Amino acid sequence: MRYKIALLAGDGIGPAVLDEGIKVLNAIEQKFGYCFEYEKALIGGCAYDDCGKPLPDSTVKIAKDSDAVYLGAVGDWKYDALPPEVRPEKALLGIRKELNLFANLRPSIVFDELLESSTLKPGIIKNVDIMIVRELTGDVYFGQPRGIDYINGERAGFNNMIYFEKEIERIAHVAFQTAMKRNKRLCSVDKANVLDASRLWREVVTSVSNSYPEVELTHMYVDNAAMQLIRNPRQFDVLLTGNIFGDILSDEASMISGSLGMLPSASLSNNEKGLYEPIHGSAPDLKGKNVVNPIATILSAAMMMRYSFGKDIAASTIENAVKSVLRQGYRTPDICFGKAIQVGTTQMGDLIAKEILTAD
Ligand code: IPM
Ligand code: MG
Repeated sequence: MRYKIALLAGDGIGPAVLDEGIKVLNAIEQKFGYCFEYEKALIGGCAYDDCGKPLPDSTVKIAKDSDAVYLGAVGDWKYDALPPEVRPEKALLGIRKELNLFANLRPSIVFDELLESSTLKPGIIKNVDIMIVRELTGDVYFGQPRGIDYINGERAGFNNMIYFEKEIERIAHVAFQTAMKRNKRLCSVDKANVLDASRLWREVVTSVSNSYPEVELTHMYVDNAAMQLIRNPRQFDVLLTGNIFGDILSDEASMISGSLGMLPSASLSNNEKGLYEPIHGSAPDLKGKNVVNPIATILSAAMMMRYSFGKDIAASTIENAVKSVLRQGYRTPDICFGKAIQVGTTQMGDLIAKEILTAD
């Protein structure tokens, strides 16, 4: 089994966490006899420094020619003053659009071992297992017109929250199919009491639900969803959101699990191709300190096995290795408390890779 994986390490701590992910992939290769062929490409600030573009055409080509893209993180404060078109974040939006990665899966799972690391009470978060299905290539992120211009003699900034019926339909299908493989409960998030884009969203999601009679569909306004996520997160199975609401709610959901450093993501198209990245950012202040948690990136490799390569056993081998290392008490500083054994980024990667190779 040969797979081509594009490695887009990016900026800040991106390269450091991706290195640990690669260690884990190497262990998987060895254990299951797969062959991963890697090709590196620049994205974000480092690409801008190299050629004046955060998303060079050559990077898009490498990504398109691969079976999966494995990404670290992009961005650094030193690029804050750049015009929006060449900011590192633009590369992330660009590659999502170029590869048509419209479905973003962001699981929020609470590991028993980390019950104490969350800012929420253990009794509230125990057994939380939520899958956020976030639309990723539409909404106010990409809507036209947009800009900063003079309107009636005064400067105004504007973006267009717009959703096309087909865009809502295809992400709704992903969400219902995801729910079918889980507990068959889907909560669609919108702001239909105020926004027209949301009124259409609710109508289309409701009509798609006719094809999935077994799934229990509910609707929730986004402000209420933000509150319910910390009030009683166990009520949710699958959450379906548009691009901006999902951006906000997924950061919130990540804190249920204790650390932004724990949560992976998959961005999928309607073929097997996908982009896998931690949901955290580039944390430039932590670069070079060997303190960041590589688990989000490592768990993203598990999602790659499952969603792009159809290798469920390899995926659960990675997930079980993570759990096992946590159970043995090893923690990076972001999740370290009590009697835990504090380790750095590279040690955490080594421990998980070793666990993969030694587990039966
Ligand atoms: C995310 C990030 C990105 C987004 C940024 C960096 C463009 O916050 O993946 O959640 O807003 O989608
Ligand atoms: Mg975000």
